[in-house]
Amino acid sequence: MAAVVIMDHPLIQHKIGIMRRKDTSTKEFRDLVSEVAMLICYEATRNLPLKDVEIETPLTKTVVKEIEGKKLCIAPILRAGLHMADGILNLIPNAKVGHIGLYRNEETLEPVEYFCKLPSDAAKREIFVVDPMLATGGSAVAAIDLLKKRGISKIHFLCLIAAPEGVERLQNAHPDVNIFIGNLDERLNDLGYILPGLGDAGDRIYGTK
Ligand code: PRP
Ligand code: URA
Repeated sequence: MAAVVIMDHPLIQHKIGIMRRKDTSTKEFRDLVSEVAMLICYEATRNLPLKDVEIETPLTKTVVKEIEGKKLCIAPILRAGLHMADGILNLIPNAKVGHIGLYRNEETLEPVEYFCKLPSDAAKREIFVVDPMLATGGSAVAAIDLLKKRGISKIHFLCLIAAPEGVERLQNAHPDVNIFIGNLDERLNDLGYILPGLGDAGDRIYGTK
């Protein structure tokens, strides 16, 4: 079974606390999605392999560490994952980006796929699937199914807030995928929203509804 990592960093706790407030503005909410994603990514990339490279400083030759391969890809689940990807690109500007379009049918809560565009060499890359909310887990499972069907195997999932129900479903469906979570919440309500949660992430980022 892969790792489930729940963040305990005070900056992440503080920023998610601001995002949960119903009075937080669209602009502030959007900025915080990027910032928290960047902080979670810092942890999620902790085990990236390094290699030794010889360089010259202004004074002498020395050996420094460099990330090996540099074959990374960020895969946001649309719409809300897009702003997480923006934040992560600040840390890893050379990563490629693959877009996965899914939305939840409001009645069945099952994901509906409408778009998928990945880098042509995605199967050779380590993929970070990003979505602020892991609720029932349907969207995350469908996104990762879709990646695996295309031969992609090195997959991590990053979210800001998760419900226990979603973590369990994702772990059962994809036990090989590491899951990085900003805050683990209490449960889902009858409409499939996370409690206490922060509402509908996409609507809060884009000011829809
Ligand atoms: C939200 C969220 C996830 C999904 C989580 O997206 O960003 O993708 O719901 O729910 P689940 O774990 O139960 O599948 P939504 O379907 O509202 O689409 P949007 O981002 O386009 O608003
Ligand atoms: N999607 C959201 O954006 N929020 C939730 O609480 C559940 C699913």
